[in-house]
Amino acid sequence: MSTINIQHLSLSLISIHLLLIIFPSSTGAAPIGICYGRVANNLPRPSSVVNLIKSNGIKYVRLFDIDPTTLKSFSGTGINLTIGVPNELLPFLANAKEATTLSWLQSNVFAHIPANQVRYIAVGNEVFLKDPFYTPHVITAILNLYQALKTLNLTNSIKLSSPQAASVVTNSYPPSAATFDPYIESAIIPLVQYLYDSRSPFMVNVYPYFSYINNKNHVSLDYALFKSKNNTVRDGALSYSNLFDASVDAFVSAMEKVGFEGVPVVVTETGWPTKAGEAASDENASVYNGNVVRRAADDVGTPRRPETGMEAYLFDLFDENKKGGEEYEKHFGIFGLDGVKAYDIDFN
Ligand SMILES: *[C@@H]1O[C@H](CO)[C@@H](O)[C@H](O)[C@H]1NC(C)=O
Ligand SMILES: *[C@@H]1O[C@H](CO)[C@@H](O)[C@H](O)[C@H]1NC(C)=O
Ligand SMILES: *[C@@H]1O[C@H](CO)[C@@H](O)[C@H](O)[C@H]1NC(C)=O
Ligand SMILES: *[C@@H]1O[C@H](CO)[C@@H](O)[C@H](O)[C@H]1NC(C)=O
Repeated sequence: MSTINIQHLSLSLISIHLLLIIFPSSTGAAPIGICYGRVANNLPRPSSVVNLIKSNGIKYVRLFDIDPTTLKSFSGTGINLTIGVPNELLPFLANAKEATTLSWLQSNVFAHIPANQVRYIAVGNEVFLKDPFYTPHVITAILNLYQALKTLNLTNSIKLSSPQAASVVTNSYPPSAATFDPYIESAIIPLVQYLYDSRSPFMVNVYPYFSYINNKNHVSLDYALFKSKNNTVRDGALSYSNLFDASVDAFVSAMEKVGFEGVPVVVTETGWPTKAGEAASDENASVYNGNVVRRAADDVGTPRRPETGMEAYLFDLFDENKKGGEEYEKHFGIFGLDGVKAYDIDFN
């Protein structure tokens, strides 16, 4: 793409505010943010993207890497970040000496973004599912980074965790039956132990969309889209009217089964595609994402934890045209490249 096009794009990004999702900021609401995936070759410049995010009142953003230009673009905006350490860096960070980890953190993160804008550092993403080769490095990298944050006196304000795919749990029906997959249990127990000890959240990527398209005989669209009028799934004294809650509570049950109660959960990705797949449409995506936002705004928890609203990050800011896998995986974007998306979301 030529420079002229990019500049044109950035101007239109700043000037157009047609998006109908409203990101709430009132207190008493659970944080709601958006993922800024960049597996694409046609995205606007980070500075334009930051303007788009700001003009839509979005206060929390998840980044998947530590690109300096992107980090700098958020500096001073008041937007709080979840910063992703890419999986490929785990062996380095797991084996680095204390001083090396500290200087890595300073020169790659805090040189570009003030510490008070960093909410979480997500160490790897779906490692146990996608990069099992790196599995043993997850907890070691986290512990090294923790020591570095401790040296900087930042362990109270910045929490470390490692987002997991739904596949780390098995037997998730009903949610109370869920257990961690025995093949990854030896890796996940030290992680959950760390999260428990350091009061950090278990991070999960939750996609009712995938569950729906892969199990249509058992999962209704209404259950996946939060539209079910009935409590579809009974689970002892609890009952579930949507798959999002059931998925989150499956992780909670699995953690409890290995002995850890009370570890908070943050949904680090959730979303619905707009095209190129079964049930993929603007309308269905709008219903799904709108419900996630509304529930965070209303501080709605899950049946196992009704008192705690769900902090969640919608996936994704833009379509990502270089994403591999199924075609619909490219189409989770909430905003068009021009900053406009006709996503009718009703908050009443
Ligand atoms: C961002 O983080 C800072 C430091 O932890 C905090 O003071 C501020 O309230 C946070 N902003 C939001 C929108 O949560
Ligand atoms: C460490 O940070 C806390 C806030 O999290 C602050 O109250 C305390 O004074 C700091 N300690 C030092 C030694 O800077
Ligand atoms: C909801 O529950 C009622 C009563 O149990 C039942 O008659 C109805 O068919 C259910 N509706 C759906 C959509 O499952
Ligand atoms: C939502 O997905 C269902 C199932 O594929 C489809 O039949 C329906 O047309 C979609 N709804 C809208 C409004 O796009």
